[in-house]
Amino acid sequence: MSQVRHFIDLWKIEAADLRAILDDARARKAARLGWPKGRPDADRPAQDRTLAMIFEKHSTRTRFSFDAAMRQLGGDVIISNASDMQLGRGEPIEDTARVLSRMVDAIMVRANVHEDLERLALNAQVPVINGLSDRGHPCQIMADILTIEEHRGPVAGKTLAWVGDGNNMCASFIHAAPKLGYRLNIASPAVYHPDLVDLARAAEQQGMVHTTDDPREAVKGADVVMTDTWVSMGDTDHDERIDALEPYQVDEALMDEAKSDAVFLHCLPAHRGEEVTDAVIDGPQSLVWDQAENRIHAQKSILAWCFEKV
Ligand code: CP
Ligand code: NVA
Repeated sequence: MSQVRHFIDLWKIEAADLRAILDDARARKAARLGWPKGRPDADRPAQDRTLAMIFEKHSTRTRFSFDAAMRQLGGDVIISNASDMQLGRGEPIEDTARVLSRMVDAIMVRANVHEDLERLALNAQVPVINGLSDRGHPCQIMADILTIEEHRGPVAGKTLAWVGDGNNMCASFIHAAPKLGYRLNIASPAVYHPDLVDLARAAEQQGMVHTTDDPREAVKGADVVMTDTWVSMGDTDHDERIDALEPYQVDEALMDEAKSDAVFLHCLPAHRGEEVTDAVIDGPQSLVWDQAENRIHAQKSILAWCFEKV
């Protein structure tokens, strides 16, 4: 029996698989151009399959895009907030994994604690997908790379600048850097710097990741400027974060330091006037709406990969 294909951490997935997923996503998106959103793809790679989705945190894009993705793949979904499950009353996640493996063909989880995802995967007999944890947001990064490549061509050799909190999003960009061959410049204040283990692993894998506390240095000559909320779900130090991250706002002056044709990305939800100004997120360089739509296209191919159809 082949090994179950979990999609939890980008650093654990072969570069060739990430490339195959991105190429499949691009082709699938092109093949259904102009179709109604509910019409299934011709090959229905998830026909007769059901995805369970468990949410320990809020979600708009992840919830709707996975549901839409499974419909377009010809499959079905069951969605629950963890608080409505026995999981929310203390049933072990290992037992939840064993039970759901008998009922569905894959499990997507938005988890508070990354280790819980790993425990789920260890005990599941079906693929487990990370729909965001405190340590990564790999599905979002696949949508972001898809968006960059649609607008600017191959991501390999490009310079991506991350400005602000060295959070879960930033971590997944670090994880994918050695796999996809882009240079990643990260500007964050020392207190909210990226994970040191992630940085060390990327360096071992010959990833081009550079850190600084100067946003101007990070965006200089960049092809892509990216940021995210300063206060992620689960963060409890709101006021300290706003104070420390205030110099890291992406505004038009900062965008001017990047390449003249640089694009702006934000995974959303955005906090206008904090990490990004209205002028940037609503401006001509912003790709945030394509980026949000691409959650569907990228995740269809992640699901198809989990089902061994990519
Ligand atoms: N970007 C993202 O994951 O959005 P949601 O929190 O709305 O799912
Ligand atoms: N870093 C944010 C991403 C939300 C999609 C969070 O974890 O809340």
